[in-house]
Amino acid sequence: MTRFEAPPYEGLQRFDDYADVDEILRSAQFRQGSHGESLVFFGDSLLLTDGEDHLTRRRLASTLFSRAALQVYETEALLPVISRLMLDLEDSRGADGIIRADFVPLARAMLTRITALVVGVDDVDTPENTEIFQSYVAKLGVAASVEWSLRDHDEVVAEGVEAKTAIIEEFLRPSMAKRQELATRLERGELQREDLPTDLLTMLAVHADQFSGLDDDYVWREAILALVAASQTTTHALPHVLMHLEKWFETHPEDRERVQESEFVRRAVTESLRLHQPAPALTRIATSDVQLRSGRTIADGEQVALFFTSANRDVAKFGGEAEEFDLSRDLPTGTQPWGLNFGSGIHMCLGRPLVTGQPNKADESQSTEGTMVKIVKAVYRAGFTFDPDNPPQRQTHSVHDTFESMPILLRDPAAAAESVRGTGTEVA
Ligand code: HEM
Repeated sequence: MTRFEAPPYEGLQRFDDYADVDEILRSAQFRQGSHGESLVFFGDSLLLTDGEDHLTRRRLASTLFSRAALQVYETEALLPVISRLMLDLEDSRGADGIIRADFVPLARAMLTRITALVVGVDDVDTPENTEIFQSYVAKLGVAASVEWSLRDHDEVVAEGVEAKTAIIEEFLRPSMAKRQELATRLERGELQREDLPTDLLTMLAVHADQFSGLDDDYVWREAILALVAASQTTTHALPHVLMHLEKWFETHPEDRERVQESEFVRRAVTESLRLHQPAPALTRIATSDVQLRSGRTIADGEQVALFFTSANRDVAKFGGEAEEFDLSRDLPTGTQPWGLNFGSGIHMCLGRPLVTGQPNKADESQSTEGTMVKIVKAVYRAGFTFDPDNPPQRQTHSVHDTFESMPILLRDPAAAAESVRGTGTEVA
């Protein structure tokens, strides 16, 4: 099996088996241990909180991901943006009739508006503001995972702190002020809860009393967690899907015509997610002496490194071909198709339905396809192929399993813009 390494966790006891990692993530005998170097960005956020506080806050935050909210994000903040970006690309058609683009910044741009809407950031509406907002979020993404950086860590954090100050002053503080005003009017009975937007900053403004024990900077760190979680993870994950699908079609050419089928693309997305994790490893700290079902022991206070990437390729769980991308794989009962990619237990990713969708076979009008399926379908509808003269470039400034650049050729972005406008939330 491929052995993945994670430099910051060299001295820690490591866990690579699916069963061990899952058991630790689900156990009440561990607390969070990740992001020690990036507390200025994520400290006290939902992700790094444990116990009762975590449960209370998680319950509040889950309202941001109700079925109704997911439908609004997808139809109002994702599809119009995909459509506009595809139409904009038409202006760059070369003399040979082909459009050249880079899928990495394109995917990031497609996710910008949905990220802003989930967090509750206003004024990400003009090209200039979108560009500025996007560059701050990208810098925060790098800094908030400084643990994995191969650059000078102090420098990465300093750049992130600069981006944090700028995004607070230019975007977060004005957006929060509006929501605090709404919360005050709600309290006075001038507004009803349904008159307020569904987003993180509104939730923090309305329930401010629950966070009164935390410092003034806390709301910004919670917002930064959501901004980074909503954009960086998905941007990192999407290029892998195109790589795997194109390789799959070489040996399964008959499947190419299925690339507009929701279920087919969802399977490709989840199988790709299983193989590529947003972080090479995460950590937990034991709160008592622990013996796992496998017999391995962990001492009270010991920090352990959990290698999701190895766990998701564990042959004991996924069979002998676990390292392969296989769209016909039979999954063991009770196993998510993405394995542990979204975590497990109490901190399991809240944004997962936004990414992989919420199908509703009984009532398709209630379905969402998810950001990844929507974007992959749109890119194929635009007549995507890889650029044979410019191969994809892996990211080299960190140990993240992702791409810095993925040059692509598009033949008909207008068709993608048109089809996205027509689809709404329907399931193909
Ligand atoms: C491909 C996309 C994504 C992946 C692979 C991913 C992965 C993860 C993982 C592994 C965790 C658990 C970390 C731990 O246990 O220490 C997590 C937590 C979280 N994710 Fe995601 N995530 C993705 C997208 C999103 C999106 C789109 C959002 C929000 C819009 C989001 C919001 C969160 C939040 C708020 C938590 C903390 C939950 C808690 O601690 O209770 N994620 N994610």
